[in-house]
Amino acid sequence: MKALNVGVAPTTYGEGTRPPRGDYAGARSNYTCEQNWAAYSSQDHDLYRRLYQRQAAQLDGLACDEFITALGQLGAPDQIPNFDALSEKLHRATGWSIEAVPGLIPEEAFFSLLAARKFPVTNWIRKPEEFDYVVEPDVFHDLFGHVPLLFNPVFADYMQAYGKGGLKASSLDACELLARLYWYTVEFGLICTPQGLRAYGAGILSSAGELTHSVRSAQAQRIAFNLARIMRSRYQIDSFQSSYFVIDSYQQLFDATAPDFTALYALVRAEIATRGEIEAGLVLEGERRY
Ligand code: PHE
Ligand code: FE
Repeated sequence: MKALNVGVAPTTYGEGTRPPRGDYAGARSNYTCEQNWAAYSSQDHDLYRRLYQRQAAQLDGLACDEFITALGQLGAPDQIPNFDALSEKLHRATGWSIEAVPGLIPEEAFFSLLAARKFPVTNWIRKPEEFDYVVEPDVFHDLFGHVPLLFNPVFADYMQAYGKGGLKASSLDACELLARLYWYTVEFGLICTPQGLRAYGAGILSSAGELTHSVRSAQAQRIAFNLARIMRSRYQIDSFQSSYFVIDSYQQLFDATAPDFTALYALVRAEIATRGEIEAGLVLEGERRY
């Protein structure tokens, strides 16, 4: 089963390799649109319920507490949430809101929304035959995977900072490096807690198979968070990850990424030029593993 059923890095937004599933013609100039909740069929709601149940059943001991605690905020698990109602709750908690989008959107539009504390959520759900595998993010991945952590104040601030950083990276031609940070934190991040390793990345949390793989599998490498190292690291878009990076706290993540990246981008580019990129699954000498 592929990992891309659950997450797509911002660099792949808008590449247009697949026909859009949503209605882009009906979208606004910033790519947001109406959720059109009334248009979901009972089959759509039923599929959401089945996806939700499969994930909810395996969160204990694998998902971080912040995720499990906030999951209830999504409302009844038996139907696709109404974005407006959820958005209101989220806004009261951390000042974030939810915007419907027809699917993948261009990088700059994506960064601008995050910078304004607006999280774009795809409004369509996969087909029943895509229960295990869908090639681009749908409402289940975007909502179930990403929205709960936005109820956490520190993580919420990190996401906004990432959006602002994305706009800056665009002007520095560094989006590819920055996307690796998104991939290895927002999508596939692990956190070390007193109870053990837990997942906080949306790509893991919305995947049936990768939850256990990421936290427990002996096949996976789990390496201490290191910003420059992550920016040098390749990732896998069509399988479970073979490397994950582990933070100690959301505050650590926020603090480590707060400084201006301009010099870091130059440093990472120089390292890539001399020593090359680091393949997924590779562990360097002296790296702390979990
Ligand atoms: N500090 C980064 C910069 O100056 C912005 C950023 C913050 C990027 C948090 C990612 C995450 O570009
Ligand atoms: Fe995602």
